[in-house]
Amino acid sequence: MKGILLLGGFDYIVTQFGEKPLKEAQKKCHLRKMILPFSDVDEESIKCLINELSINLGLSSKEIMEKVGYYWTLKKAPEFYPQFYEKYNRSVREFLINLNYIHKVVVENVVSSKKLNPPEFEVIREEKNYILLRYISKRNMIHVAIGAIKGLGQYFKEDIKVVKQSDDTMLVHFIQNLSS
Ligand code: HEM
Repeated sequence: MKGILLLGGFDYIVTQFGEKPLKEAQKKCHLRKMILPFSDVDEESIKCLINELSINLGLSSKEIMEKVGYYWTLKKAPEFYPQFYEKYNRSVREFLINLNYIHKVVVENVVSSKKLNPPEFEVIREEKNYILLRYISKRNMIHVAIGAIKGLGQYFKEDIKVVKQSDDTMLVHFIQNLSS
């Protein structure tokens, strides 16, 4: 996976818990000292890192993934990729409908990398007050997606609920639309 998402996660961990737990986990997982936004980080190291942090911080790996996803879309992605937030600035719904396009553009703009393998999202059902989404990826990181959507809710100041329905589906409920 690309270093950029990981760097966002590192930033979150250091901001919340200081440098020590991160440094310890990096050492245990033999992670290269310097990770750049476009570095390729192997999937096993990422799994190892999540496990180690989970032990050190007393959080479940699901909680860690959700928090990292939340921080990514609320704080880091707007900083790294403001273009998407300017283009899809109407609502969480609009952003989600364009999620595959967003990931595709990011991938297309990474020069000389064959390793990018971003997740895909299928809209299974869409109604006025909700969207049912399927998360498609071999990485098993639906909890990053759940956190990322919650982060978008906070970014757009919308009252939303994200409920995991199965290992690969989640319901995004637009609460504020109920009253309109
Ligand atoms: C401007 C917003 C966003 C940008 C620029 C972005 C970009 C990226 C990038 C570069 C990766 C790493 C891909 C790789 O190395 O193969 C990634 C992974 C991921 N993204 Fe996004 N993303 C954005 C928003 C979102 C949102 C809103 C969601 C929630 C549905 C999401 C869900 C994920 C997940 C779950 C992964 C982990 C990899 C996987 O599951 O396969 N992203 N994203």
